[in-house]
Amino acid sequence: MTATPAGMPESVLITGGTAGLGAEFARQLAARGANLVLVARNEARLAESAARLRADTGVRVETLAADLLQDDGVVRVIDRLADESAPVGTLINNAGHGLRAGFADSPLQDELDLLRIHVTVPIALAHTAVQGMRRRGRGHIINVASVAGFTPRGSYSTAKAAMIHFSRWANLQYRSEGITVTAVCPGYTHTEFHQRMHLDTRQIPGWMWLDADVVVRDGLRDAAAGKAVSIPSARYKALAVLARTLPPALVGRIASRGR
Ligand SMILES: NC(=O)c1ccc[n+]([C@@H]2O[C@H](COP(=O)([O-])OP(=O)(O)OC[C@H]3O[C@@H](n4cnc5c(N)ncnc54)[C@H](OP(=O)(O)O)[C@@H]3O)[C@@H](O)[C@H]2O)c1
Repeated sequence: MTATPAGMPESVLITGGTAGLGAEFARQLAARGANLVLVARNEARLAESAARLRADTGVRVETLAADLLQDDGVVRVIDRLADESAPVGTLINNAGHGLRAGFADSPLQDELDLLRIHVTVPIALAHTAVQGMRRRGRGHIINVASVAGFTPRGSYSTAKAAMIHFSRWANLQYRSEGITVTAVCPGYTHTEFHQRMHLDTRQIPGWMWLDADVVVRDGLRDAAAGKAVSIPSARYKALAVLARTLPPALVGRIASRGR
């Protein structure tokens, strides 16, 4: 872990740090001694997650209750990222949700919120975080995207494709300043994501499921290596290659079978 010249250790800020992939990032990073800032809406769960991490690892854990679909919530996270007295050396843009209904059947506001939480907010947070990282000459940004970003599949895959594209560009742009930007692209992963959508996942074959610990371990390894894109597991690496080489209409037909 790096420290500022003033000796204040840099923290890792994780949006959606209380469940699923975000909670796993928190566990693995705390086990390596990183101090954390956890962002999510549910205050009781934030407090409980922080207490557990502190007890298990002894690291400092701050909590920031914020709804990233509300302007005041985003402003609070931006203010925390801009606080140079307690610098954030790594930003993990992870919070997100899916939509159960298809594009034309979703209320417009749901579609706009989806784009907001998966694209507008992560880019806004990256914009603030990168200022301090440039001054310090180091930093990591991890954008949790999805393999869905390689397939044509509604606004969710559009949003994830945008974050893959952004990460590829930003990783090239800021590499010479010591900053890495990595899109982590999981496939189906056991978290609360599908439960929250009230989705029946029984039709998804067992081999397509990943465990969060593997996604996070590979993502952290690839971010440390300065990769722009991290695709966990050999099977999803192969599927991503197929998605980029097969005709888009065929990929779209295959992808439309799952969620
Ligand atoms: N699971 C998968 O199969 C899968 C596959 C590919 C990509 N992903 C991506 O992985 C990321 C994490 O998803 P997950 O599967 O770990 O989901 P999850 O288990 O449902 O966890 C979501 C986390 O985000 C927080 N969150 C949700 N909405 C928020 C909001 N408006 N403001 C602030 N925090 C919010 C939740 O806490 P609160 O409810 O307390 O706010 C929770 O901590 C997402 O970007 C998702 O698109 C997931």
